[in-house]
Amino acid sequence: MKAKSIKTIAVMTGGGDCPGLNAVIRAVTKTAINKFGLEVWGIEDGFLGLIEDRMRVLKYNEVSNILTVGGTILGSSNVANPFKHRVRIGKTTRTKNVTGDCIKNQKKHDIDAHICIGGDGTMASASRFAKKGVKIIGVPKTIDNDLYGTDITFGFNTAVNTATEAIDKIHTTASSHHRVMIIEVMGRYAGWIALHAGLASGSDVILLPEIPYRLDKICDFVIGRSKRGKRFSIVVAAEGAKEKGGKMVVAKKVAHSPDPIRLGGIANLLAVQINELTGLDCRAVVLGHVQRGGTPTPFDRTLATNFGYMAIKILMKGIKGNLVTLP
Ligand code: F6P
Repeated sequence: MKAKSIKTIAVMTGGGDCPGLNAVIRAVTKTAINKFGLEVWGIEDGFLGLIEDRMRVLKYNEVSNILTVGGTILGSSNVANPFKHRVRIGKTTRTKNVTGDCIKNQKKHDIDAHICIGGDGTMASASRFAKKGVKIIGVPKTIDNDLYGTDITFGFNTAVNTATEAIDKIHTTASSHHRVMIIEVMGRYAGWIALHAGLASGSDVILLPEIPYRLDKICDFVIGRSKRGKRFSIVVAAEGAKEKGGKMVVAKKVAHSPDPIRLGGIANLLAVQINELTGLDCRAVVLGHVQRGGTPTPFDRTLATNFGYMAIKILMKGIKGNLVTLP
């Protein structure tokens, strides 16, 4: 069955930004215009733009020369949720279901279908809209690589590259100053970035959220290295890593976010603890948002382009409520 009824589509980028978002926007827009003669609208700041009717027609020229550019030309939001939208009433803040406003705004611009580029938060909202009958195709994004249904999300490869490069640089200070360097990487509750960047950089200890660690074992290991003449150690810690029987280190809570927990602080904690228990000089380095920035790697450019192209292709074949994936 072909989706002949689709003439106008909208594209949005939701959640935390990551390298490759622009590459998907470009592929979606160029495929939609060139191959199917569709009109393409760009929704600003993810679902927030759909709620607030902030969107514009994307012309072919606007998506030229953005393949290599990090971030998103449409803007993003990792707190927007149309099913629980925060509204200020007088002095109090309430949450409201504003999906009716979204449908109204979609109809106002004659939008027949949506391409939602995002991670688990965006896909959770997208799937609820799909169940309401809205035609949606999802495109899996996140540096964390933690989205169900696909082996790889775009953005992950670039983040691993960035983290690996940073750890390689930290090696020199570690060895020159005979220190234990603890590098904290992102990933939320998944250890993919830590695992891949840790292995690729030849790090000595890799701490993942999935396998709670024992502090005494880490200390024995770094002391053992010192005794063998290796007077430095590189420890890569996922931000969600936790001690056996302990809890993840929370940096702050963002009250209105679909996932309010922001992790962070494990590297500083470990630097203090390992120093106290071993006497070795320790330093913490938090890579933070640098992992979400910069130009996408060739792998991510290709993956994002394929995802964007396939999203339009399957939509025009009549498929809806699905996610394009790399199995
Ligand atoms: O999901 C991407 C991610 O960068 C996580 O790795 C990290 O825990 C979180 O987002 C940080 O969120 P924020 O940009 O709101 O600080």
